[in-house]
Amino acid sequence: MNSPLYAIPGSTPAPSAAPAAAAAPAAASDPTAGARSVAEVLAGSQVEAVLQELDDDLVGLKPVKARIRDIAALLVIDKLRLNLGLVSQAPSLHMCFSGNPGTGKTTVAMRMAQILHRLGYVRKGHLVSVTRDDLVGQYIGHTAPKTKEVLKRAMGGVLFIDEAYYLYRPENERDYGQEAIEILLQVMENQRDDLVVILAGYKDRMDTFFQSNPGMSSRIAHHLDFPDYAVPELQQIAGQMLAQQNYRFGDGAAEAFERYLQLRLQQPHFANARSVRNALDRARLRQASRLFADRERQLSADDLSTIAAPDILASRLFQA
Ligand SMILES: Nc1ncnc2c1ncn2[C@@H]1O[C@H](COP(=O)(O)OP(=O)(O)OP(=O)(O)O)[C@@H](O)[C@H]1O
Ligand SMILES: [Mg+2]
Repeated sequence: MNSPLYAIPGSTPAPSAAPAAAAAPAAASDPTAGARSVAEVLAGSQVEAVLQELDDDLVGLKPVKARIRDIAALLVIDKLRLNLGLVSQAPSLHMCFSGNPGTGKTTVAMRMAQILHRLGYVRKGHLVSVTRDDLVGQYIGHTAPKTKEVLKRAMGGVLFIDEAYYLYRPENERDYGQEAIEILLQVMENQRDDLVVILAGYKDRMDTFFQSNPGMSSRIAHHLDFPDYAVPELQQIAGQMLAQQNYRFGDGAAEAFERYLQLRLQQPHFANARSVRNALDRARLRQASRLFADRERQLSADDLSTIAAPDILASRLFQA
């Protein structure tokens, strides 16, 4: 085994051939410690609730949800094996979430962190989200302390590296990104029982990154592809976002929004659910201006919570 050159303080050492009981995370307070059946692990860890929430709260994403159930199954079975003293290495849990902007990668990563925490695979279950600039310094000697600081913050949880491929810049031989990658690789190997790394970004760029970085590629156990949403899914996401904020579409507004989506999809920089959120924010702004213009009118709860068709149709996308 490699020496933990970059061991981050406050974390447990790498798993060795220690007895299973010692390798079991948080054994003393672990409510699944004595579990012998899948149902007992699920009940003890309350993981089923997170999986259910994931299903209920997130529209679409069928393949992603299925993969997360598979990973949860792996962890539950690993737990049962551990409880019976069947020794194995901590499962490798580093992941890659590939997909276009706004497809739910960050949202799902937060749920993943919760699942890992409830099953005892990470101590705290928080998510630290970073990009290249948080890890890589501008000058010689700045990168290692920056990367280590981030790793220290992420220990016991999930480190989410957005647009991870920017760490690698082949055109610049002396790029400090390489230094960050090397530190990450060490920690991903040696402290994988207390830190899960999720790399995220566009699929094609992630693939190229892995081709040039086989060390990174070999440490990623799970690849999840986030598909773009279809218009009906985007509509459903819009309905959900509105309901969460106590708004709703008035007569004809849902139809107008569907037409808006068809147009927006053809524009550059379409960002799936994120574009839906932004469009709804602008519609709220227009609704407010519309209501504001009429000073004397008594406004009912219904008036205040309705996004009307003209609030959508005033978008400049319809002006062209
Ligand atoms: N399937 C979904 N159902 C409901 N809301 C969703 C879904 N996917 C994404 N959202 C919402 O869309 C917004 C963007 O999602 P998120 O930030 O997770 O996407 P992302 O893939 O990380 O995007 P980016 O690449 O832009 O960071 C969030 O407000 C999130 O709640
Ligand atoms: Mg994101």
